[in-house]
Amino acid sequence: MKHFAPSKAIGAGPLRGPRETRKDDKDGMTEQGFKRFRRRRAPAAATPFTADTEGGSRLAVPASAAPSLLPATLPEPWDRIRQVPFDGAGHQEARLPLVSRFRTAPAAKSFDLLRTRLLHTLKARGWKRVAVTAPAAGCGTTFSAVNLALSLARVPGSRTVLMDMNFRRPGVACALGLQAPANMTGVLSGTVLMEEHLLRPLPSLAVGLNNAADQNAAEILHSGTCIETLDGLMLRSGADVALFDLPPVLEHDDTAAFLPQVDGVLIISDGTSTTAAQLAACEKMLAGHTQLLGVVLNRARKSDSSLL
Ligand SMILES: Nc1ncnc2c1ncn2[C@@H]1O[C@H](COP(=O)(O)OP(=O)(O)OP(=O)(O)O)[C@@H](O)[C@H]1O
Ligand SMILES: [Mg+2]
Repeated sequence: MKHFAPSKAIGAGPLRGPRETRKDDKDGMTEQGFKRFRRRRAPAAATPFTADTEGGSRLAVPASAAPSLLPATLPEPWDRIRQVPFDGAGHQEARLPLVSRFRTAPAAKSFDLLRTRLLHTLKARGWKRVAVTAPAAGCGTTFSAVNLALSLARVPGSRTVLMDMNFRRPGVACALGLQAPANMTGVLSGTVLMEEHLLRPLPSLAVGLNNAADQNAAEILHSGTCIETLDGLMLRSGADVALFDLPPVLEHDDTAAFLPQVDGVLIISDGTSTTAAQLAACEKMLAGHTQLLGVVLNRARKSDSSLL
């Protein structure tokens, strides 16, 4: 049995011509009339997709519905940085000792004290960018930069960025037990977006890792795109502090090339090998180019003060 709606319920629309109106109004809708009605109504009401001229399909959105389909807001750049699993309390693959595992150990306390002093200085002067370097290789630059970054990242509501700018011997990825998505050269030359390269091992810490050494490091750090990329990073990330892990001052000119990009420098000295002459040479090299924020005594003997 077929059931058709009575003419008064469906026949009053403008889709019908005068001839049909007269007939249907009089006798109720015929089967033929109903099919015609359905054919005419279908394109407008049944589907939001319409064929385009090339045989594909496109979304036909009524003007009144469009605003509700748009996302209310885009996530900000910091939230777009990929979060990666990281167990700071005991990362098995981490190569360097991460002192945040032992909050009450003297080394962890020293990093927290260094963090607080550094934050006071940066805040007082409106600075954000800090280079971490050493007179010679192996003094503990990466060890200090990573542990300081983890300590800074524990400050509630803060944002810390740690960038591996040591193109001679990149070490931050290995120190944190993370895999670098690409090398830093692509990022600093502008071919890879910073937000795509950075990783967030903690909600308040973003790291820029490097997976390949590059002997043209000084030229890369001098380049205009490097300057623009870092300016963009600071602007978009909203970072409170950015730490840059750099090669030794007295071995390459990379750090000297990068000095215009930072507000100040932390020098890591090795209590077992760094000499006074080396520290004096570093200070001479930095003088007039940037501010020396402090000299950190790493691998201090018991009788030494851990921070100078
Ligand atoms: N205070 C410390 N306690 C224990 N181990 C340390 C300490 N400082 C550094 N090390 C170890 O010494 C080695 C060298 O440290 P690190 O990689 O930080 O040196 P670096 O100055 O970054 O060297 P490079 O110039 O090659 O980048 C690492 O294996 C690290 O674990
Ligand atoms: Mg290093």
